[in-house]
Amino acid sequence: MSAPFLKWAGGKGKLAPVVAAGCPASIVTYHEPFVGAGAVFFALEQERPGLPSRLNDLNGALMETFRVVRDDVEQLIEELGRMAGEFFGRDAEGRKAYYYQVRAEDPATAVGRAARLIFLNRTGYNGLYRVNRSGRFNVPYGRYANPRILHTEGLRAASQSLRNAEPTSVDFEEACAAARPGDFVYLDPPYQPLSATSSFTSYTSAEFSQDEQRRLRDVFEDLTSRGVPAMLSNSSHPFIRELYDGRGLEIRTVKMSRAINSNGHGRAPIDELLIDNFARVGLEMPKRDIDAVTLG
Ligand SMILES: C[S@@+](CC[C@H](N)C(=O)[O-])C[C@H]1O[C@@H](n2cnc3c(N)ncnc32)[C@H](O)[C@@H]1O
Repeated sequence: MSAPFLKWAGGKGKLAPVVAAGCPASIVTYHEPFVGAGAVFFALEQERPGLPSRLNDLNGALMETFRVVRDDVEQLIEELGRMAGEFFGRDAEGRKAYYYQVRAEDPATAVGRAARLIFLNRTGYNGLYRVNRSGRFNVPYGRYANPRILHTEGLRAASQSLRNAEPTSVDFEEACAAARPGDFVYLDPPYQPLSATSSFTSYTSAEFSQDEQRRLRDVFEDLTSRGVPAMLSNSSHPFIRELYDGRGLEIRTVKMSRAINSNGHGRAPIDELLIDNFARVGLEMPKRDIDAVTLG
């Protein structure tokens, strides 16, 4: 059973199987330009083992980690095992100090960097990934009693799932340009915040502005006009509805609770939009009844 090996803000969690179930029956290559921890990819690959995939995220350290999980999983397990041993061999204060020591390090190898990223993701505050202006990871210690630093079988399963996946780190527009009719693109961008206080979009040092949301709509339109089936999720914000309304797209509202919320503990279900272009690219889809589903 393969699943995301990282916690990630906006992780699709329970929505992943719904999205996976709504994908076209036949897919030549699957594209996920904002892959994050890859919940939808892992759910989809579970149903279609070995699915050829192009997984992309602007976060280069994240995509390097995907590559290491795919190519060097045994070495990664060994390194994470060493770090877990160092961590659990200390008392509470020692563990905290070890976290900040690892955070300050800059490993010279890809395996070392991937192990560091997974370690910090498991032991840092809320599994957040946040960097400062100079690109240094700056999330504080998480104070978990018993964090799962090394999940050997989970990493091996993820490695197996990634065997036909190509991780890249480019802007979403470039990632979408590679998609062809017969492929399928699932887009899960940083969401338009529903309120000023819920604006957590700092996955990378760059912010995702309204101009970026407009550029994404244009890319979605371009995929549609090129006959490429695509699906997109976003928050149910009037600005987003306006961007996609009146273009012959299917726009559904689903309720779901997010894995990591802006304030770290609020988990009330919120409305999300699931938008697809299937009718416009001439794709026949079985009628799904996900509109009424409440998730989370
Ligand atoms: C909502 S998260 C994706 C969540 C993911 N689907 C999951 O299940 O974990 C959005 C991702 O978009 C990435 N991102 C932000 N701007 C981007 C851009 N211009 N091009 C590609 N990826 C970008 C962020 O690094 C972040 O990982």
